[in-house]
Amino acid sequence: MDTGTPGVKNSVHMEFPSLPENVGFARASVAFFASQLDFTLDELDEIKVAVSEAVSNAVVHGYPQGPGPVVVDVSATEAGELVVQVADRGTGIEDVEQACQTSFTTRPGERLGLGLTFIKEYADRLEVTSRPGEGTVVTFRKRPQPAAVSQG
Ligand SMILES: Nc1ncnc2c1ncn2[C@@H]1O[C@H](COP(=O)(O)OP(=O)(O)O)[C@@H](O)[C@H]1O
Ligand SMILES: [Mg+2]
Repeated sequence: MDTGTPGVKNSVHMEFPSLPENVGFARASVAFFASQLDFTLDELDEIKVAVSEAVSNAVVHGYPQGPGPVVVDVSATEAGELVVQVADRGTGIEDVEQACQTSFTTRPGERLGLGLTFIKEYADRLEVTSRPGEGTVVTFRKRPQPAAVSQG
């Protein structure tokens, strides 16, 4: 647990089997957690998409043979940043750089290859670490954008 970790104000740790019905659970839980920071509704929507994509990837690609454990850690830093980590112990990724390219998918005809691209687009920072046969960890960070100063 992150309680007491320097720089971390609040954190939640979740673990669940990679069942499709848990994608929505993770998406809603992380968005609810994120709402304690100063995100706009649009930013919360972006966070929901990013979480859905990361967790669906664990379900679809990480454990193609059947459910395995997915761990989601979400934290809010003292500096007001959201950090989301989605980890599986599934198949892993052969070439992470290639996997992150727009439209790259190992399931052509079935998927669009846009999931990691969306996460990269919506987050301030995305890190993917993976080893074939050992699993994948996707970490993304996002800070609320300062509100635009209105004129007049
Ligand atoms: N958790 C994961 N485990 C194994 N492979 C993954 C994982 N996440 C992504 N990948 C690989 O990266 C590719 C690109 O992912 P993504 O951009 O989400 O596109 P898509 O899911 O549509 O294929 C996937 O096709 C898959 O090969
Ligand atoms: Mg995907």
